[in-house]
Amino acid sequence: MSTLDGPDEIETLFSVEDELFDLVYPPWIRELSARHWTPVVIARKAAEFLVAEPGTRVLDIGCGPGKFCMVGALATAGHFTGVEQRKHLASLALDTIKQEQIPNAEIIHTNVTAIDFSAYGAYYLFNPFEENLFKMGRIDSSLELSMEMYNQYTRHVAGELARVPLGTRVATYCGLCDEIPAGYKCEESHFDDALKFWRKTKE
Ligand SMILES: C[S@@+](CC[C@H](N)C(=O)[O-])C[C@H]1O[C@@H](n2cnc3c(N)ncnc32)[C@H](O)[C@@H]1O
Repeated sequence: MSTLDGPDEIETLFSVEDELFDLVYPPWIRELSARHWTPVVIARKAAEFLVAEPGTRVLDIGCGPGKFCMVGALATAGHFTGVEQRKHLASLALDTIKQEQIPNAEIIHTNVTAIDFSAYGAYYLFNPFEENLFKMGRIDSSLELSMEMYNQYTRHVAGELARVPLGTRVATYCGLCDEIPAGYKCEESHFDDALKFWRKTKE
């Protein structure tokens, strides 16, 4: 298990900077932020790793209300796409990106299984599927969640990441990292191992 699985530990990385950033969101999204959305300090650090060169296309797998995409797009010269299965979160992310006029961020409302991974050069995951494993602390009750779905989505992403080119960068924040297939090396970790930087080094 990650060293930051408990809500109390995750919340220690949530700062005044997050309280300010989260003002772009309605109160119900702010209330979920400390547990479910990437803290600004983590998003900035991960984005700097993922955007190896200007224009790198980064996919946030399970983007929620788009916080990682927006921070990454504002902090780097990359292009950030978030995919989100919950329609209300995808719509909010889209509206917020439009409202803040962030040209290098976009949102796709669909399941990650419908995404063409070859359109992206780097990938970010903050615990997208672990909600399926725990009854406590879910985002909401709008979806059927199960261990089978955890296994299905995790296997799907691992299969896609196994096919991308050598040298591809992936960042994971918290979680079990079951989506990272063999052939990837964890090259750096930060924030007590909560944030991991991976690179594909072998086929
Ligand atoms: C822990 S939140 C992270 C949000 C965002 N990446 C961030 O860092 O702020 C995980 C998100 O993944 C979404 N998600 C889970 N399974 C998904 C799937 N199969 N396809 C698309 N989105 C998914 C959830 O609805 C949730 O909004």
